[in-house]
Amino acid sequence: MQLDVVTLFPQWFDWFRGQHHVAKALEAGHELRALDLREHTPLSGGQVDDTPFGGGAGMVLRVDVMDHALQAFYATDPVELCKERRVIALTPGGRMLDDGLVDELAAEPAVTLLCGRYEGFDERIVQHFCSDAVSIGRYVIAGGELAAMVLCDAVLRKLPGALGHAQSATEESFSAALGGDPEYPHYTRPAEYRGWAIPDVLLSGHHEEIRRWRRARSRERGAAEA
Ligand code: ADE
Repeated sequence: MQLDVVTLFPQWFDWFRGQHHVAKALEAGHELRALDLREHTPLSGGQVDDTPFGGGAGMVLRVDVMDHALQAFYATDPVELCKERRVIALTPGGRMLDDGLVDELAAEPAVTLLCGRYEGFDERIVQHFCSDAVSIGRYVIAGGELAAMVLCDAVLRKLPGALGHAQSATEESFSAALGGDPEYPHYTRPAEYRGWAIPDVLLSGHHEEIRRWRRARSRERGAAEA
């Protein structure tokens, strides 16, 4: 899979690329590129944003700057690009990122993420250059970079080669294997600590009983959330 991030801070992704499961996914042949939005601006002084029409606080990323950058990176009109691959604007007002969307994206051969800064994007970027708008939660962070890392982290760990244990990504919180419920509780040694004993069933060696116990705990957690 090819994950591209269009950002004003490409160097932030150097740290991210070094994280164990990300590094593993990259070794397995997946790609994560950070493309510098400022590098291709047609405006002087590296300008990428401007004041909002109608007034108000903050600055807005310009549509002409994004157009030039995407044309330079892909040698394709971005209006066409977003018909060929998922191009996603990261914005607090977008579709909420969840396990279903992560699965959907992990099945794509190529995805491009656009990071907003300041007050966000000129709306024409989202309307004409993007297939989707995605939010990581109903709060505002200073820019799309951390949201892009959250999304890339969640997608990359679903890909073959990223995790050591093949089961780890399939039977985890919110997955289809758990009926969309949160994951059951985990315990490790010591079996008793400060008088806190782990549930007996986990020491029983009865795989079917353990499976049923885990499914029940997972359902309880799901019901408590609803
Ligand atoms: N940019 C700023 N806040 C965001 C959020 N909650 N999700 C995605 N992108 C964002």
